[in-house]
Amino acid sequence: MNIKLQQESPARLALPAVTVYCFEDDPISSGSVDLLPEETRALLAELKESGELKGKAYERTLIHRPAGLAAQKLLIVGAGKKDKFKTYQLGRLAGAAVRFLRTRGVRQMAWVVSPETGADHIQPVVEGAILADYDSDPYRTERNGDYSIGTFVLAGESLNASEEFNAAVERGQAMGDAANFARTLVNEPANRMTPTVLAQRASEMAGRMGLEFQELGEEEIRSLKMGAFLAVAQGSTEPPRLLVLRYLPQDAPESPVIGLVGKGITFDSGGISLKPSQNMHEMKTDMAGGATMLGVMQAIAQIKPKVRVIALIPATENMPGAKAYRPGDVITSMSGKTIEVLNTDAEGRLALADSLTYARQLGCNVLIDAATLTGAIVVALGNITTGVFGRDQEWVNRVVESGAATGERMWQMPVDDEYRDLYKSSIGDLANSGGRPGGSITAAMFVGEFAEDTPWVHLDIAGTAWSNDEKPWLAKGPTGVPVRTLVNLLARLGG
Ligand code: BES
Ligand code: MN
Ligand code: ZN
Repeated sequence: MNIKLQQESPARLALPAVTVYCFEDDPISSGSVDLLPEETRALLAELKESGELKGKAYERTLIHRPAGLAAQKLLIVGAGKKDKFKTYQLGRLAGAAVRFLRTRGVRQMAWVVSPETGADHIQPVVEGAILADYDSDPYRTERNGDYSIGTFVLAGESLNASEEFNAAVERGQAMGDAANFARTLVNEPANRMTPTVLAQRASEMAGRMGLEFQELGEEEIRSLKMGAFLAVAQGSTEPPRLLVLRYLPQDAPESPVIGLVGKGITFDSGGISLKPSQNMHEMKTDMAGGATMLGVMQAIAQIKPKVRVIALIPATENMPGAKAYRPGDVITSMSGKTIEVLNTDAEGRLALADSLTYARQLGCNVLIDAATLTGAIVVALGNITTGVFGRDQEWVNRVVESGAATGERMWQMPVDDEYRDLYKSSIGDLANSGGRPGGSITAAMFVGEFAEDTPWVHLDIAGTAWSNDEKPWLAKGPTGVPVRTLVNLLARLGG
């Protein structure tokens, strides 16, 4: 998708489609509808009269050959109640416009920008448009045609190609592309997204973006004594990989060094503690945390915040092969802590444990991990909200605030020593499962044990990385959550 800024009045835009939005309270003179000429607004008044135009959230009304406009079509998107409206929702409106028009033969469209709009309103629109122009069915041989919007124009009388506006477009583009990159990785089925393939994709991206890339194979992982990560990997014939990407700009302060750790289980069968077959196919998404961190690294390589970041992705399958680890096995993690495996399906925390230890060894002094870690978080928060865990309230707050700014919902869950008894082992230091009660809390806290005293925030994205329903602004399938939250956080940190 080509994004352009154009200084032009909405009436004079000679494009296939022009889009405006309006609020429910006043659908004919609110939002950007106000910027249309009298003649066009008279048409809208008729539509309002007849009840066709209400301005309800994501209502879409299309007018052909609109009077007063040079454009062939006018699309009006409802924004709902004005007092409930948040800036990030502009992205969803733009997305809803994109998804509506692309299936109706439109390849070039404009989004009308109001004069009072600052650069802060440009970025979410660009993000939303790019996220919306994504499909999750690349392997369908009989496609209904290529739906992509070729050119998306932000147009307004007061718009100019100032540095501020251009920067906002670039940021939005970097954010949207990064989220879509992560979605593409998550969407790949496990036969096409093995640890080796994930490493290749990461390496290509790093090469393209000028990021330092390192890929540790099985022997190197063994020399690091990552007994927990290797235990998970040993049931699969696919060799594991530990991916390390570095973004260390010269002009960034020496501290903090943010360690981004993403769960990269390319398929989670459960291992010997095999999952029921019912929804097992969804476990191709179990590398969404890893995909997230790759997306984040791609975006910051473009946005260039002044902050040091190292991403670590333990990539492996969790399979019940002949050499698989067993329930009851006791393994020794890189940290030296011994772990009794009560359930081989609690594999994510094992892979994360050693990666956190290694991240600290590499000099990370703030740790953020993202993982499709527990079914329990889906029970608690559904598919709407990501669970946030951590003991360092300042860092938790930063993540939650960045989530709110991008519209990716985040909710803090408890971390409390009283839960530690639940994952005590009778034979070793820790057990890898705390049972069903508080399952996402004990999983998070198990991971946190390996962060030791380093500030750490954990995002459980099991419910939010994938959506089974289509939204007006987003295809069903991979959502790209929480790429934009983390990019926003790093961009804020590094000015
Ligand atoms: N990858 C799963 C969690 C998951 C569930 C992700 C649903 C996405 C959607 C994870 O590895 C897992 O199996 N967790 C177990 C832990 C249990 C065995 C302690 C779970 O949640 O049931
Ligand atoms: Mn599992
Ligand atoms: Zn898993």
